[in-house]
Amino acid sequence: MCGIVGYVGDNFAEIVVVDGLKRLEYRGYDSAGLAVPLDGGLKLRRRVGKIVNLEREVLKEPLQAHVGVGHTRWATHGAPTEANTHPHTDAAGRIAVVHNGIIENYLELRHELEAAGDHFTSATDTEVVPHLVAAGMARGLGLVEAFRAALRRLEGSFALGLVSASHPGVILGARRSSPLVVGYGEKEFLLASDVLAIQSYAEAVSYLEDGDVCVIEASGVTLSDLEGRPVERPRHKVDRESLAVRKEGHRHFMAKEIHEQPRVLAQTISGRIADSGRDVVLDGVGLTGDQVRELEHVQIVACGTSWHAGLLGRYLIEGLAGIPVRVDYGSEFRGRAALLPKRSLFLTISQSGETADTLMALRGIRGQGVRTLTVCNVPTSSMVRESDDALLTLVGPEIGVASTKAFTGQILALALLAAHWGVARGTLSPVDAESFLDHLVRLPGLVEHAFTVEPALLEEARVLADARSVLYLGRGINYPVALEGALKLKELSYIHAEGYPAGEMKHGPIALIDPRFPVVAVAGSGQDQTKLLSNLSEVRAREARVTLVTTDSETPASAADRLIVVPRTSPWLEPILLVLPLQLLAYHTAVLKGSDVDQPRNLAKSVTVE
Ligand code: G6P
Repeated sequence: MCGIVGYVGDNFAEIVVVDGLKRLEYRGYDSAGLAVPLDGGLKLRRRVGKIVNLEREVLKEPLQAHVGVGHTRWATHGAPTEANTHPHTDAAGRIAVVHNGIIENYLELRHELEAAGDHFTSATDTEVVPHLVAAGMARGLGLVEAFRAALRRLEGSFALGLVSASHPGVILGARRSSPLVVGYGEKEFLLASDVLAIQSYAEAVSYLEDGDVCVIEASGVTLSDLEGRPVERPRHKVDRESLAVRKEGHRHFMAKEIHEQPRVLAQTISGRIADSGRDVVLDGVGLTGDQVRELEHVQIVACGTSWHAGLLGRYLIEGLAGIPVRVDYGSEFRGRAALLPKRSLFLTISQSGETADTLMALRGIRGQGVRTLTVCNVPTSSMVRESDDALLTLVGPEIGVASTKAFTGQILALALLAAHWGVARGTLSPVDAESFLDHLVRLPGLVEHAFTVEPALLEEARVLADARSVLYLGRGINYPVALEGALKLKELSYIHAEGYPAGEMKHGPIALIDPRFPVVAVAGSGQDQTKLLSNLSEVRAREARVTLVTTDSETPASAADRLIVVPRTSPWLEPILLVLPLQLLAYHTAVLKGSDVDQPRNLAKSVTVE
C-alpha cells in the first residue's frame, strides 16, 4: 500500500527517495511522486504508473536537492491520476505533504477551508493537511506549531511527511495508527513508512508512536508529542542482513518465496521443540500452564490469506487442545459488538502486523481484560508491539504481494501453539505429542520433496489459463486450503475462482459445472477425504475437468483427469503440503497469462487502510 520516504543529508534527496520508494514497490501502488524545497520554492514531480516513470523524470532533469519527501500512492480517495498523486500542496504551493492512511473528517475540513476561500485541486483526503498547515501559518503560527495544530484537527489514521519552501532544510513527520520510522545515518537522516525503504542509508531507526511528531534537519532529529513535549524513542540498529531481499536467481519474488519454504519452515520450528521431543517451547508467549488450562475460548481475527490460516488454526486448536475457537475477518469483527466469553484469548494473525482492520480489532479489544496474542512475521510491527504475547513465524521478509511462505509459516506456528496447549491441557498425550512433533520436524523435508510435482502443474496451468472460472473444493481441515488456492489464482491471474467446502457443492455451485468449468480439489488422508472423492464423482459425471491434489498415492487414476500426489504426513499438517501445488499452479498460470506476478493489479502487500 502507500509508502513514504524522506531524506535530509549530503546525498541528492531525489535519488535517495526514489531508491527508497522502489524498495517499497512490492507493497502495491498506482502512482508515485516527490517534493523538494529548492531555490526558494518547492519542486514537485508526480507520475502515474510505475516508479520507473518518476525515476526517468528525475534522471532527465536532476534536482540535486538535499531535502525531500516522496510517496507511492494506492488510490483510495480519487482515481490514480497525476492530480491525485502525492505530494499535495497548499494553495500557494509552499507546503507539500505525503500521507499514508485516511483522514476521515476530510470533507468537513475541506468545506470549512473552501468556505474561507481556499481552492483544492485533488479528490484526495490528504490535500486538507497542507491547507490546514498554511492556514495556521497565516494565523501567525510557526511551521511546526501550525503542523501540530493541523494534526489535532485530523480524525482517522496517518503517517505524514512534510516539506516547505519557508523552511527548506526541514522535514516534519507525524503518525497515528500508520507506521513511520526515523532513520539515522552518517550525517544524514531519513523518514520512512518501513525500514526496508531506508536500509541502505540508515544505521539505526526509531519507531514513532501514535501522536509523535518529528522534526528532521541536517543537525539532527527532535521528537515530541502533539503538545510539543519532548519524547524519547529507543534506537534500534538496522539489521541489513535480515532485510536483504533478493530474487536469488528466480524470475519473481513469489517463485523464490515458494521455493524457500522448506528452509524457512525449518526456521519456524528451529529451537522450539523441547529436548524431551514431547512438548514445544514458545519464546514470546508468556501464558503459564495454568492460564492455558483455564482458557475457555479463542477468538481469532485476521484478513486475507492470514484469515485462511486462522480457519486452519481453528481445526488445530480445537482438535489438539480442545479449546473452542471462533474466526472472524478483522473488518467484520469490528463491525459487530462481538461477545467474548470469559477467559477468552484474542489471537491476531498477520504477516505484516500492520493490516489496519486486524490492528484496529486488536486495539478495540485492549482494555477489556482479554489477553492478546499475535502470530506475526515482523518482530517490530505494531501488532507485535501492542499484543501481550507474540509468536513469530520467522520466515523472513515476504515481498510477493500474494502470500505464500508467510501462510505456511503461520500454519506451522499455529500447529506448534496447538500442540503446546494440548500438552498443557492433557488433550494431547505425551506419546501423541511426540508423534505429532516428529511429523512436524520432518515436514520441511517433505515440502522439499513435494516440488517434484512442479512440471505437472505447469501443464495444469495451461488448462487453467484458458478458463473463465475455476472451482476449488476441499473438506475438513483442507477446506481452507481450497479457499487459499482460489484466492491465489484470482489474485495473480485475474481468473474468477471460488473455494467451496466439497460437501456444500451440491447446494448451489454444482449448477455451474460444465465441461468448461475446471475443478481443483484437495484431499488429505483424514477420514473426510473418502467423501471428497464421492463429491468429485458428482463433478465428473457433469464432465468438468478435475485436478486432484492428494496425499494418497493409492488414489485410483479414474478419480480425476490429473492426479498430483504430494507426500503424506499427519493429517493435521497436510494442509502445508497440499497448498504448495496450489501456490505453484497459481504462479504458473499467472506467468502464462503475463500478469505482474509480484505486484498484481489493485492489490497491496500491507493494507493499512480500513
Ligand atoms: C493483503 C495482502 C494479502 C494478505 C492480507 C493480510 O490483502 O495482499 O496477501 O494476506 O493483506 O495481510 P497480513 O499482513 O495481515 O497478513
